[in-house]
Amino acid sequence: MSSFVSSTGGIPSVGDVPRHIAIIMDGNGRWAKKRFLPRVAGHTRGLETVRDMVKACLERGVAYLTLFAFSSENWRRPEGEVSFLMQLFVKALQQEVKRLHANGVRLRVVGDLSRFDSSLQEMIAAAETQTAGNERLTLTICANYGGRWDILQAANRLALAEPAKQGTWSEDDLAPYLAMAYAPEPDLFIRTGGEQRISNFLLWQLAYSELHFTDILWPEFDRAALDAAIASYRRRERRFGRTSEQLQAAAPSSHA
Ligand code: IPE
Ligand code: IPE
Ligand code: MG
Repeated sequence: MSSFVSSTGGIPSVGDVPRHIAIIMDGNGRWAKKRFLPRVAGHTRGLETVRDMVKACLERGVAYLTLFAFSSENWRRPEGEVSFLMQLFVKALQQEVKRLHANGVRLRVVGDLSRFDSSLQEMIAAAETQTAGNERLTLTICANYGGRWDILQAANRLALAEPAKQGTWSEDDLAPYLAMAYAPEPDLFIRTGGEQRISNFLLWQLAYSELHFTDILWPEFDRAALDAAIASYRRRERRFGRTSEQLQAAAPSSHA
């Protein structure tokens, strides 16, 4: 199903611009608190950053942008904040899909969507269908997503599809069932807000991603901050298990 080279099964190609950027958008609550605003004001402001980052990725030729919007653990938050986030999601879909479509963006929403209201599920399906043919940028919103959930749902679906192969499954057998099988693995992972953890984001897919942590709070993350993350990414040597000498011998200018 996926034609992308897996980081463990082969050596993915490396370009100057990350093909896939995955972001944990963190720090909305603290941004609001600093301004004596309710936490949810930070989420509203954070949506503006999302808009900016989609534009910035289009301009920079990034092909896949994946944003962690709501984790499977975020249901533990106060009820009022959870319902605000759900309403914001609905509003964002209502307001943004037209513009995304006009800009050639394909929208995907991944996660356990069964826990959302059926009207929200329908809106998501409609937006995905409308934008399915777009090819400039694939924007993935991870909603009620958890990395462990993803691996488990993939394993369960594989078990149902290919019971005879039980006990001999390979990475290549499982990978097509992961929620983001349509995308290459992230080249660059960014987490804003100062925490240095993965918080159950893309556990399988981040195997060889370059990690970038910044103290900038998500509502304040801007083009300059994105460019700083990309610049840091460019300075990395992506060895995928090999030695530096091997890399230089194979492709002297591969990361110039
Ligand atoms: C991230 O910002 C947004 C979501 C998790 C929905 P937070 O709401 O986690 O902001 P902080 O970490 O409390 O500042
Ligand atoms: C991770 O942020 C989830 C999202 C950004 C959607 P959290 O703020 O929920 O992460 P923890 O709880 O601090 O690890
Ligand atoms: Mg947080």
